[in-house]
Amino acid sequence: MRNSSGAGLMSKWLIIVCVAGGLLSPMQTALAQALADSDAEQIQRGEYLARAGNCMGCHTTRGGEPYAGGRKLNTPFGQFVTPNITPDNETGIGRWNSEDFWQALHYGKSKDGRYLYPAFPYTEYTKVTRPDADAIFAYLRSLPPVVQANPPHKINSPYDNQALLFLWRTRYFNEGVYQPDKSKSDEWNRGNYLVQGLGHCNACHTPRNVWGGSRDDKMSGGKIMGTYWYAPSLVSPLEAGVSEWSIEDIAKLLSTGINGHAVTSGPMATIVRQSLQYLSDYDIRSMAVYLQSLGEKRDSTPRKARKMPEQVRQYIALGQEVYEKHCQDCHGKSGEGVPGIYPPLAGNRSVTMISPLNAIRSVLYGGYPPATAGNPRPYGMPPYQHFIRDPEIAQVVSYIRNAWGNYGSLVSPEDVDNSRGSEF
Ligand code: HEC
Ligand code: HEC
Ligand code: HEC
Repeated sequence: MRNSSGAGLMSKWLIIVCVAGGLLSPMQTALAQALADSDAEQIQRGEYLARAGNCMGCHTTRGGEPYAGGRKLNTPFGQFVTPNITPDNETGIGRWNSEDFWQALHYGKSKDGRYLYPAFPYTEYTKVTRPDADAIFAYLRSLPPVVQANPPHKINSPYDNQALLFLWRTRYFNEGVYQPDKSKSDEWNRGNYLVQGLGHCNACHTPRNVWGGSRDDKMSGGKIMGTYWYAPSLVSPLEAGVSEWSIEDIAKLLSTGINGHAVTSGPMATIVRQSLQYLSDYDIRSMAVYLQSLGEKRDSTPRKARKMPEQVRQYIALGQEVYEKHCQDCHGKSGEGVPGIYPPLAGNRSVTMISPLNAIRSVLYGGYPPATAGNPRPYGMPPYQHFIRDPEIAQVVSYIRNAWGNYGSLVSPEDVDNSRGSEF
């Protein structure tokens, strides 16, 4: 099997050899040049697609060489270390051809035949087409090779077992390139392809069982394995479903990390910063069209007015004091926020959704929305973990979950303590 960049190398050689030898007619030179251009074009397309897949995000350590691997991913099954995928012959994928690469991306098999762990989201990347995979490979081949050996994974027994992984695959891995739905628009199909494939939104937004498996791709929300973050449902309008937002608002959140309703934080801010902000307007719009179509309809029966027991009212009133002292300056007296700067807390689903985890973490650790071309100098929120005690954090989160028409369960100091953890 010839690999595609082999053909590209050939064409470059032809140009060098023939031009040097003065052998080519002008027409032949033009033809050879066109071949080389299409090579450059493929590499450029591959770079773009690698962005869409956030390959660099996982395959690079902080401060390390791009794509040289070494980043540690903690999961309940142990610690995985991402491998070097630069074209170094000894420590990277320098000896791979495009078929080897396809086997990895599409089937989750390494060059030596070993089944790869789904910490590498090939369960999603399997939807990527062969031409797109070839372009990504051509791009990776064009990178400077980096000599950096892969440290071993530290996988807990019994998960370090290929037979078990084989069983896992038969149950939870559906191999297959994305098949367009002819009854839907081109945009919708493009969006579906990106969200379910390279974008690997499922990897976080789909609930996992104890085996880390998911069979559907419904993106109905779940705690991200090995981290202390909840990735909200992309179908429920009570969480992160966007069926009630305009295409423009959805696109704005995806490409800039912030819009009038919401702000991305934690792992989602990372995805926007490392990947989504680089996508073309057309691709972002397509994702928005697809995501908007996913939404369930919200139950429109009005909520009954609640009568809060006196004790609950007192608890929430304590939270209001904390809010007025520490939070109001930025988020506003009525939780209205400042558009494009401080997110509103009134009507904000990150605050009211059933899981209070992310809201608690925002208060404990603060954070920044991603810096993007559309929002280059984001305003941040200070961390409060050393500043206010757990009981007060519990009170203030309970308050913002129940003020200004918001409605959510109360949060206890234990909930706050259980939300600690430094992942991300
Ligand atoms: C969420 C993190 C993550 C992302 C995103 C990711 N990878 Fe990986 N990748 C891994 C891990 C972990 C492994 C190691 C799996 C194993 O050894 O079983 C891996 C393995 C691989 C391998 C196999 C290397 C070998 O030596 O067998 C290739 C090739 C690869 N990734 C390419 C890519 C490409 C291309 C992308 C983007 C489209 C990508 N990865 C995105 C985590 C990631
Ligand atoms: C690494 C895990 C991860 C991946 C991959 C990921 N998300 Fe998220 N996403 C999260 C987390 C955690 C949150 C909750 C924090 C927040 O609201 O920003 C979130 C929140 C969101 C929100 C709601 C933001 C808000 O505040 O209302 C949307 C919409 C969203 N994600 C869409 C996507 C799409 C589309 C993709 C794929 C391109 C994707 N996510 C991939 C982890 C992830
Ligand atoms: C200096 C201004 C500032 C102060 C003070 C502040 N915040 Fe924030 N807050 C922000 C910014 C900016 C963000 C977006 C952070 C991000 O994207 O990670 C934010 C995000 C949040 C979020 C997450 C919202 C979402 O959509 O994901 C919550 C919840 C929150 N703040 C609550 C509070 C509470 C409670 C206090 C007081 C204890 C407080 N904030 C104090 C600026 C502030």
